[in-house]
Amino acid sequence: MKKVLVTLLTALCLLTTILSGCGKQSENKSESKIKIGVSAYDMYDTFLGQLVELFQSFQNEDVEIVVYNAAQSQQTQNSQVRKMIEDGMDVICVNLVDRTDPTAVIDAARKADVPVIFFNRELVEGDIGRWDKLFYIGADAEQSGVMEGELAAWACITNKELDRNGDGMIQFVVLEGEAGHQDAIVRTEASINTMKKQGIEIDKLGYAIANWNRAQAQTKATQFIEDYGDDIELVLSNNDDMALGAIDAYEAMAIPRNKWPAILGIDGTDVGLEAVKDDKMVGTVYNDKEGQATAMFELACVLAKGGSIDELSDKYTIENERYIRLPYAKVTSSNIIQFIGR
Ligand code: BGC
Repeated sequence: MKKVLVTLLTALCLLTTILSGCGKQSENKSESKIKIGVSAYDMYDTFLGQLVELFQSFQNEDVEIVVYNAAQSQQTQNSQVRKMIEDGMDVICVNLVDRTDPTAVIDAARKADVPVIFFNRELVEGDIGRWDKLFYIGADAEQSGVMEGELAAWACITNKELDRNGDGMIQFVVLEGEAGHQDAIVRTEASINTMKKQGIEIDKLGYAIANWNRAQAQTKATQFIEDYGDDIELVLSNNDDMALGAIDAYEAMAIPRNKWPAILGIDGTDVGLEAVKDDKMVGTVYNDKEGQATAMFELACVLAKGGSIDELSDKYTIENERYIRLPYAKVTSSNIIQFIGR
């Protein structure tokens, strides 16, 4: 009996020690709040602004998030990174202004041993290989182009009236994002190739770079309308904001809706989804900002505690120990309900 009592007491002591240990651990954890710094290339970019605001909303009592706007200057971004390091950020998340020029960011972070998660603007492979604490979160540019091409092909097949001049070909124009951005040229090529593969005869009237920007796209689309008028049967845009710029052009020129070409975008921003819902845009491709922000938050927390990206392998596909890419999805009026208000 005595022996049983001693064993029970020992077990009780052990349990108390473990429990008090856990309490202490969580006390320590809350003492050392995780600090995440973010530098965005341009907070006025519609998609990016929504992505970063979402990320910031994950701030909680254990995690502090500080956001900087680099306002399209790589130099500004470099000083923001230095400041974040000085301020003791555990991890920094960088949306590069110039995706080919991450040297200052990498050097500063490496010197201070602060991991960096790049996002949305993908640095080249040679650069990510420069240190083992560099990561990237984004999406597969080609997949978005393929999906946009599939949506365009579906629009041509299901609505024969799109071929207004009845020449058996679809005359189209392209609105492109920033030159040199991984999501610009790749999306354009993939969407055009996909249409061809799906048997659509196409005829490119022209393309214009509008830097992801709605106002610039309106100017370029106005020019296209002046040059080609009714000949334009399809507008392929590298993002929603530029597709909306094309819509603005048609509206500002008072061209009735039944004379518009099919207009397609990519992103599924709030305004983009609204345009699909209102039947101004035929469709868009959802760029999963919720998924990207969540993955970035989870990875930042793991890295801040000294953990490894592998800890997230149950939830995400991790490429080359460095990359997490969230899948795109096609959006039309028939499934839009699943995307609005995500
Ligand atoms: C988005 C664009 C955005 C750009 C910014 C792209 O992935 O589709 O809307 O302007 O990223 O880097």
